[in-house]
Amino acid sequence: MSVLAAALVIASISPAVNVIPRPYEMNVSGPGVFALSAGTKLVNEDNSPAAEDFRAMVKRSCGFALTGRGSTKVVFRTKSDTRVKLRPDWYWLTVTPKVVTVEYSNETGAFYAVQTLRQLLPTAIESNSPAKGTKWTLPLVQIADGPRFPWRGMLLDCSRHFWSVDYVKKTLDRLAMMKMNVFHWHLVDDGGWRMEVKKYPNLTKMGAWRVDTGEVWPGGGWNFGNLQFCGENGAKKYGGYYSQTQIREIVKYAADRHITIVPEIELPGHSLAAVVSYPELMCENVPPADKPGKSASNVYCAGSDTSIKFLEDVLTETMDLFPSKFIHIGADEVSKTAWHNCPRCQARIKAEGLKDENELQSWVVRHFDKFLANHGRRLVGWDEILEGGLAPGATVMSWRGTEGGIQAAKQDKDVVMCPTSHCYFDYPYTTTSTETVYSYDPVPAELDYQQSQHVLGGQYNVWTEWIPTESRCEELQFPRALAMAEVLWSAKERKDWPDFSRRLAAFMPRFDLLGINYVLPVPRVPFTTLFFTGSTEVKCEAPAGVPQTLRYTLDGTAPSAKSPTYKNPIKVDRACTVTFAYVNKQGVAGQVARVDCRPFVAQAVSLTPGVLVEKYLLSGEPTTIPDLTTMKPTETMAASGLSEDARPRATKFAVRWTGHIQIAKAGAYTFSLTSDDGSRLWVGGALVVDNDGPHGAVTKSGTAWLPAGTYTFEARWYDQGGANSFKAEMSGPGMAKGSFRVFR
Ligand code: ACM
Ligand code: ZN
Repeated sequence: MSVLAAALVIASISPAVNVIPRPYEMNVSGPGVFALSAGTKLVNEDNSPAAEDFRAMVKRSCGFALTGRGSTKVVFRTKSDTRVKLRPDWYWLTVTPKVVTVEYSNETGAFYAVQTLRQLLPTAIESNSPAKGTKWTLPLVQIADGPRFPWRGMLLDCSRHFWSVDYVKKTLDRLAMMKMNVFHWHLVDDGGWRMEVKKYPNLTKMGAWRVDTGEVWPGGGWNFGNLQFCGENGAKKYGGYYSQTQIREIVKYAADRHITIVPEIELPGHSLAAVVSYPELMCENVPPADKPGKSASNVYCAGSDTSIKFLEDVLTETMDLFPSKFIHIGADEVSKTAWHNCPRCQARIKAEGLKDENELQSWVVRHFDKFLANHGRRLVGWDEILEGGLAPGATVMSWRGTEGGIQAAKQDKDVVMCPTSHCYFDYPYTTTSTETVYSYDPVPAELDYQQSQHVLGGQYNVWTEWIPTESRCEELQFPRALAMAEVLWSAKERKDWPDFSRRLAAFMPRFDLLGINYVLPVPRVPFTTLFFTGSTEVKCEAPAGVPQTLRYTLDGTAPSAKSPTYKNPIKVDRACTVTFAYVNKQGVAGQVARVDCRPFVAQAVSLTPGVLVEKYLLSGEPTTIPDLTTMKPTETMAASGLSEDARPRATKFAVRWTGHIQIAKAGAYTFSLTSDDGSRLWVGGALVVDNDGPHGAVTKSGTAWLPAGTYTFEARWYDQGGANSFKAEMSGPGMAKGSFRVFR
């Protein structure tokens, strides 16, 4: 076969090969298939439990147990290679028309091979009652695959919202499907104590139950000061806890899926549920609470030996329940007020020769670092543990950005990355899109090779103060969790957003069969502004495999189940806004994509190079660009282009540039604004870039289709005080990205 013919074969069948996370190496070796049937025999050479999982899955969904006579075979065996040491958790999968061979370096690798086989099979494999006549085929592939990072995790906050044992297990199933291997179990916090501790029964008698305010979260917003505990006999209680028996069962359930549970026992802050259960753990001089079951402090007294002993006892039971090498001790967001006012804490500071309360926090962390190390475990804590000096054995979880991770890695300490910018899945998709998550690289550019080896991996965090239901919890995770799974598993060079988007579209029917609620894809339009003469066509990408219907409207409203289905480009001959959205079976629309269509009117104007600049002084705390058309500029001048040098000598100001641009060749032009604070750009009266709002230097872009001709433009920028910057750029056919040429 010529190279070209081979490429065509692969292109024609590759849509069937949609594995997430993307395997390290994958070749499609031909157009045929392997057909799983009642005649197929499973040969489990080393009694791999994963191979038996595969048999059980096939039996459940396909209806045969792989005990056929062997006309076709699926062989599981440990890979033996005497020349090289095989990396742990890898697998090698070869599918030929008659034989599927699964080789693996260890049982975890075998488990991951089964997850891949599951995705290579038709989606119906997820169903207990698949459609009759489903053809259980596998594409002919060769795969060599293993993880990029050893820590591929997810945090579930079970304190603010108490999630049932069943839901925790479901969560573990989903992590396993994505080849994730760490479940960071946030078990205790201000919202409730969720782990049974035999020695301190009040933790769950009292601390697991708060007054139900009619919502999952307490009225008046989430603040530990609002929380009131009522205990297990409370008339109107919200909460629950996991018994030690249930915890052991969940730990085993996770281990069967090759997931380690890292428990988090928060200390010394975020501990309201514990201190209301045992008030003697609090500092002296804490002002009395206004109601029973409340407390003005949520920290343990660091000067009290009783508190330290209590925490050692709790950690001892924790280590007994959880075999994980890592034990998370929290240590984030510790208020130091109570310590400052407490004679015991002050005495500890003095006795230990500490400088202040920050060093007292560091003393606490060092104490438990040593305690855990003496028991053969390792401490992990939030990046606040860097303050006041890092404990010798500590691993840092970097959440307030990447700086904590960078600092720790430079001090030769291991780190786990989960910055709020990419990994906080309690944030909405409008803040952290699936594409943003996908763009994340857990290894900060600031680290050299040696230091980067300390990055164990990363995780996504689901904090549940504002998550009232399982379905909300799921839609915040899916599909972003798949993007994170690929970030943490797949080689950096193999990452490819368009390819991932295609595989994700094909994955979505799997969510439906698994009963996972998820966010619909955002329709992709090539440009959001379209100028035309006469008439034109408006297009939207319609990827194959998306199980929802792509619908549109022409009046600017969001599509509903009644809106027309998008099939072919839409013909437009007048000004209108075409709005696209995916609509699911329940009639719910996802995020919209809009195309602003405007007839282009050629202008006969004589132009000279330059731009008109108007400067405005602002007062108060503006959070957006004010309406400059109703204000008087303090200065008006001409300039040669758009530059931040136009800023007035003032701390709060706005600048408005007006002029023309000339487009020599029709095409799609991309405009971008980078500004601190907000900025906006109009072309021909259409808003093309909206980068408004109070923020640091942020870049936003917009793309417009422009026929050749002259267009008016207007740019506005404002600063509410503090740092400021502005840059405007454009690119297009035959035009590299750069500043734009402007005319008056
Ligand atoms: C955190 O989000 N406070 C770790
Ligand atoms: Zn104290």
